[in-house]
Amino acid sequence: MGNSRKILVTGGAGYIGSHTVRLLLEQGYDVAVVDDLSKGYRHNVPASRLFKLNIAETGALAELMRQTACEAVIHFAAFIAVGESMREPERYFANNVAGSLSLLTAMLQARVKHIVFSSTAAVYGNPHATPILETFPIQPVNPYGESKVMVETLLRWFDAIHGVTSVCLRYFNASGADPLGRLGEEHEPETHLIPLLLRAVISGEPVTIFGHDYDTPDGTCIRDYIHVDDLAQAHILAVEHLVGGGRSGQFNVGTGVGHTVLEIVRAVEEVTGKKVPYVFGPRREGDPPSLVAASGKLRAELGWEPRYADLRSIVTHAWGFARKRKG
Ligand code: UFG
Repeated sequence: MGNSRKILVTGGAGYIGSHTVRLLLEQGYDVAVVDDLSKGYRHNVPASRLFKLNIAETGALAELMRQTACEAVIHFAAFIAVGESMREPERYFANNVAGSLSLLTAMLQARVKHIVFSSTAAVYGNPHATPILETFPIQPVNPYGESKVMVETLLRWFDAIHGVTSVCLRYFNASGADPLGRLGEEHEPETHLIPLLLRAVISGEPVTIFGHDYDTPDGTCIRDYIHVDDLAQAHILAVEHLVGGGRSGQFNVGTGVGHTVLEIVRAVEEVTGKKVPYVFGPRREGDPPSLVAASGKLRAELGWEPRYADLRSIVTHAWGFARKRKG
């Protein structure tokens, strides 16, 4: 499946970005990674591919796009912590919104016509029903989600006025790791459930489960956990769609199956063969009881199929990486 299409990836040294870069390189793409390394890690990408830049540096980005004859951009670079966005919204609007506008301006300067954007299920806020369709109301409940909505809005106007086509991928719960353990999730501080459960297994320090009085079968929240490599592959399909003349659109990226927090705990116990130490705590502010994607649009229009739709693969791969990182 070799091709030498030239792609610029922002935030390519981060969690989802680095898995996507690896897949792109494996599939023969010519990749330039832009990352300021404020959250990403140098060790996540081949040194020859990395350009240490912030997305606010419009002129430098445009120059890099010209030099590399960039055909499409995949834009991951952003802040992602919901709680932090409630305390410091200005940083989220500056980095996520103004940063994206700078990137889009650079694309105009360098005449790059296609972009795939990391959006989020957080654009739906507290949805009235599940599974969530792309046509559900957009009503984010925190500045993080709002910042992603604002970029989706910018993208609509850049298409209407400048003919820049875009795919917005609204991620559900990105999880898992490279099946061979070469890459994985390393957020600092870590807030995501699966890496926290694995750390608890290793350290013996209990994890707090946020609420067990939700209106769900076991009282804990339901989420749609999607393997990071399946998520990465959705970006590659989106690039091909756009470069092939496909129209702009918004797509959920989830499996369509939800799991409760306690189901994840059980999966971690099965995979690791160890008890997960945990305690029940109060609900976390802003957590919707259930977020499950309707994933039919992505499957039908981009031909996407998850390879690792089962929880066991996700947890097994995350465990492989966590053990390696510890050792
Ligand atoms: N959880 C716990 N204890 C923890 C951490 C998480 O019980 O220590 C629970 C949460 O309450 C939630 C589930 O585990 O029910 C998953 O939580 P994560 O923090 O792993 O993920 P979220 O669903 O909160 O967040 C994800 C993305 C966000 C995005 C959000 C909505 O990480 O970027 O989905 O789309 F905004």
